[in-house]
Amino acid sequence: MGKEKVGKSTKKATPAAPRLAPWAPGQIVTAEKAAPVGSVKEPIRMGLIGIGGGIGPLHISELQKNPNFRLVAGGDNRLDDPAVRPHAERLTSAGGKLYSDYRQLLADASVEAVVIAAPHFLHREITVAAFAAGKHVLVEKPMATHPDDCRAMIQARDQAGKVGAVHMQHVGRNSMLDLRRKLNEGAIGPIREVFLSSLWWREDSYYNRARWSGKKMFNGAWNLDGVMYNQAIHYLTQTLILAAPGREPAVAGVADLQVGLYRFHATSALEMEDAAFITGKLTAPGSPRLIAFATTCSRVERHLIEIIGAKGRAMWNGAGYLFPDGQPVLDFPDNTRDFEGVSPVYNSFAEAVREGATPLTDFSRIARVTEFIFNVYEQAAWNIRPAPWSATENLAQVVQQAQRQRTLPAALQPKPQWA
Ligand SMILES: NC(=O)c1ccc[n+]([C@@H]2O[C@H](COP(=O)([O-])OP(=O)(O)OC[C@H]3O[C@@H](n4cnc5c(N)ncnc54)[C@H](O)[C@@H]3O)[C@@H](O)[C@H]2O)c1
Repeated sequence: MGKEKVGKSTKKATPAAPRLAPWAPGQIVTAEKAAPVGSVKEPIRMGLIGIGGGIGPLHISELQKNPNFRLVAGGDNRLDDPAVRPHAERLTSAGGKLYSDYRQLLADASVEAVVIAAPHFLHREITVAAFAAGKHVLVEKPMATHPDDCRAMIQARDQAGKVGAVHMQHVGRNSMLDLRRKLNEGAIGPIREVFLSSLWWREDSYYNRARWSGKKMFNGAWNLDGVMYNQAIHYLTQTLILAAPGREPAVAGVADLQVGLYRFHATSALEMEDAAFITGKLTAPGSPRLIAFATTCSRVERHLIEIIGAKGRAMWNGAGYLFPDGQPVLDFPDNTRDFEGVSPVYNSFAEAVREGATPLTDFSRIARVTEFIFNVYEQAAWNIRPAPWSATENLAQVVQQAQRQRTLPAALQPKPQWA
């Protein structure tokens, strides 16, 4: 696994810091973007496991347009399903082979590396089998939902001497990477507090779309498909990356957790939480306070990370903003929204496979996110409380009030009238 080096995207991403002009009200300066990632000499021959579903088709598109890769095979146990078939056809029309059993795909010597877009509960099983077959692995988030599973995956990677990375597209976004670089350069001084609100909307029907959806265990494996591991993991990860010190993107640990987990959706398909309230202390210099809210019960989808520093503050809400005390605002835009980071994550994986760099979303880094979320469940003693109030609309008030007061709902005083 070679030297500790992140993909060219970040290595080259050291444009001179914009000179800070004297502050003028309302002035916003757009920060320089990270340099684009270079290309590897020989494209990596990829197999995709999990062709249909919510994310498989995106992987087909990326692998077909990214010159660092060639999509040579696809595996799915539901090739005849009308929802999978059109995507399988896209793959074969581009010359790819199809397998109905992922083990056959892993036995195909023309496949060098796999991307695993099958459900959570299969991530460990398929990853370990892929390493044993001598393939590199890019697995969808969550890497796995139990720390033991992550450890087994890391051990299998090390035994095989291959690359293991997680597909977390937001980690590759310029708006995040550039903001992180400035924070790490001390643009707002030491970080004191980090706040995340990650609000999503999922109907009851969402949890009935697949049998594994919303389940704690599935087929005897850990699955833990609640809002933390499924949706909010993107922004929980970003929050922990933005707050972690050091030149390379790392993931800060969290201690002293206080937690409230709730379930609002009425469907019995959901066994896990759909609302999580978390406070803790980051294991970073100065032990910054972490406050995080995540839910799939907010009709308005919105994600906000706020970072309070000793000499200013920063914010990410789709674009990054830096508000250094007495200086102009700096902004860090993306060209497009959510999926901007897919290519950078893929390209850092390519560079890791061909040149031995550490991928942006290396297993060893991202396993810490699993550790954090798993600790949240343990801290809650696995107690997911039925919603204490009836209408999900009230959750918006809870979140707003908790956000203003930077505390868990149970600690809000006076007691909200809707509680
Ligand atoms: N990065 C993102 O933004 C993003 C978005 C959606 C889903 N995901 C992740 O992708 C994974 C899949 O989620 P989904 O909602 O697409 O799931 P899904 O249930 O819709 O399944 C995805 C695909 O995997 C296939 N599959 C299932 N079992 C298989 C097996 N044993 N062998 C081969 N193929 C198999 C299914 O047939 C389907 O085509 C999850 O872990 C999820 O967290 C990530």
